[in-house]
Amino acid sequence: MEVIITNSADEMSKKGAELVAAAVKKNPKAVLGLATGGTPVKMYAELIKLYKSGALDFKKVRSFNLDEYVGLPGTHDQSYRCFMNENLFNHINIDKKNTNVPDGLAKDIEKSCAEYEAKIKAWGGIDLQVLGIGSNGHIAFNEPLSGAMSKTRKVAISQRTISDNARFFKTMDEVPKTAVTMGIGTILEARKIVLLASGGNKADVIAAAVEGPVTQLVPASFLQLHADTVFVVEKEAASKLKGKY
Ligand code: PGA
Repeated sequence: MEVIITNSADEMSKKGAELVAAAVKKNPKAVLGLATGGTPVKMYAELIKLYKSGALDFKKVRSFNLDEYVGLPGTHDQSYRCFMNENLFNHINIDKKNTNVPDGLAKDIEKSCAEYEAKIKAWGGIDLQVLGIGSNGHIAFNEPLSGAMSKTRKVAISQRTISDNARFFKTMDEVPKTAVTMGIGTILEARKIVLLASGGNKADVIAAAVEGPVTQLVPASFLQLHADTVFVVEKEAASKLKGKY
């Protein structure tokens, strides 16, 4: 595991974009694992800038998103499909047919999850997975107690995450309570992982994930077992790390 501490959230976003850009330059058909949430928004804006300047070509890039709310159609403004279209896909030359987001409306969710896993494998596996981290240590919607070997599945969203997500919805009742998410096992199969975090509210969980024991109480701590994970952490979020990195 590598930890890169940045002076600002902007610098974190630029560093994240640099790592994604490097993967795409190395392999123009790279399979990217993509994340939603507040944290990666500026990183996507940096990637859009790189595309517009002619420095990056997404024509053959393929992608799989981590998760989606159950019950929200891709047209709902809070669906993760809509988030990806608005924050990245609509502004670059990626072919939307090459972009995948779990289906939160699938009639047979178990089957749809198995198909998602199979498609990741059929497309050669994820070259680079982008992650955020929840204040409770979740990665994607793998809440505390998610197993290290877990795969794409339907999960209950924890009360803490429901409260964290409430800011995106008009009322608490509208916040979805279940989601489809890649598992920890799915994420750990990615060849490279880049986790971004910023803000003092993430300081405790970053310290636990990087320096604490590997435990399902802090799902992000399982990343310690991965061969090539980079934590790109803005200095406030890094403020409780004891080591000097
Ligand atoms: P955030 O969410 O980027 O909105 O803080 C992170 C996450 O829950 O993975």
